[in-house]
Amino acid sequence: MKKVSTESSRIELSRDEMREFGYRVVDLLVEHFANLEREPVGKKGDPDRLVPLFDHDPPETGRDPNELLAQLERDVFPSNLHVDHPRFFAFVPGPNNFVSTMADALAAGFNVFNGTWLGGSAAAAVELGVVRWLCRTCGFPDSAGGLFVSGGSMANLTALVAARNALLKDRIDGATIYFSDQTHSSVQRALHVVGFLRDQVRKLPSDGNFRLSIRDLREAIAADRAKGLRPFCIVANAGTTNTGAIDPLSELANLATAEKMWLHIDGAFGAAAILSERGRALLPGIELADSISLDPHKWLFQSFECGCVLVRDVALLKSAFQIKPDYLRDVHRHETEFNPGDHGVQLSRSFRALKVWLSLQTFGVSAFRQAITRGFELAEIAERELRARKGWEILSPAQMATVCFRSGESDELQTQLVDLMMRDGYALLTSTELRGVASLRLCTINPRTTEQDIVGTIERLDNFAREINKRG
Ligand SMILES: Cc1ncc(COP(=O)(O)O)c(C=O)c1O
Repeated sequence: MKKVSTESSRIELSRDEMREFGYRVVDLLVEHFANLEREPVGKKGDPDRLVPLFDHDPPETGRDPNELLAQLERDVFPSNLHVDHPRFFAFVPGPNNFVSTMADALAAGFNVFNGTWLGGSAAAAVELGVVRWLCRTCGFPDSAGGLFVSGGSMANLTALVAARNALLKDRIDGATIYFSDQTHSSVQRALHVVGFLRDQVRKLPSDGNFRLSIRDLREAIAADRAKGLRPFCIVANAGTTNTGAIDPLSELANLATAEKMWLHIDGAFGAAAILSERGRALLPGIELADSISLDPHKWLFQSFECGCVLVRDVALLKSAFQIKPDYLRDVHRHETEFNPGDHGVQLSRSFRALKVWLSLQTFGVSAFRQAITRGFELAEIAERELRARKGWEILSPAQMATVCFRSGESDELQTQLVDLMMRDGYALLTSTELRGVASLRLCTINPRTTEQDIVGTIERLDNFAREINKRG
């Protein structure tokens, strides 16, 4: 294709042009998936080089999209970290699958409107089906339901809006909320967005295992009640981002019930592990929550953006969000129809459920169970390799596919190791802070990671640490 053959007033390609461009895109993606482990894990781009490349007005006359694809191959895709790479262990990796990617193309290609039953009936039915399966998987009763959202941040926000509406009738004066210092920043941001002030938020120090302490929580709630405040919500973690720690969910649920408080469980990272036997054994009590965040774009191997919020009583989600404007009168004529847009922030929304449905149907749940179990095992292999070498301290042992560790005494050394690994390009990890000290951290949820990937990564880290120590 030399030049787009359409008349200038039409935003269209011919059939042949669509095919040629579409096949090239598919070929590019197939090569990406097939060759990923042989590619570098990616590097952070240089703003002085990248920003000027795109800081232009678009052309008046169109260009050949195949040429543009070549430009993207050169200037865009290599200058991002490959979060789906088997040796990407930083933050929370995004090990998506090809079927999920194709589902995104289908959802976008048919431009499915997933906001209302009227606009996208079958899409709403697919979403209901997948969400109900996730609810059953988490042990929720038939009253439960939920919604696909952009990710964990939006899931936490959506759940907290439901909690505020259900328990406070949206009057937040004097209402207080409790979670550990290991809780993801999106919870604090969500509270800010929904109007809570800092002095209504109790971020409690976590215990020796990075878990919320029931005793401290009880005391904090009692102290607030004594001051005439209104404790209304506990946010618990089913897998913290830092260490994979799981708060004592059953005890927290009992406490929440006794105190007539809402229990939200942030399982954006860890709740999907419930599909595996090992995860299920670690998550008793999750079924007692009032709401759960669960991110399929993390440990359920979906492409971004795919988060999910589940609510024990889905009617509460609807009460919190439904508004019936004049121009949606045809949408709201039938009360029993499921309108996703009545259950969250977005009205126009993409068909996220499709990728989860299509990949579950394609590979079967058993493949997902095994892939999740592999994440647990890989972190344990990393811990074993570290313990077998001198000079490494485990700061948080392998749990929920996460292990935290450090070399030597200085925080600066951990930062240097992150930088050296990034420059080296074989594997990528990032650091965090645990009880005031810098810690390296591996998150091993990518099922395409091999044992050799882990061993090779630890070997490199060990070599780099020794070189730095030798230089003194
Ligand atoms: C425990 C936890 N909660 C919430 C989030 C936020 O999720 P997202 O980045 O999908 O908005 C994350 C992200 O890593 C997380 O690990």
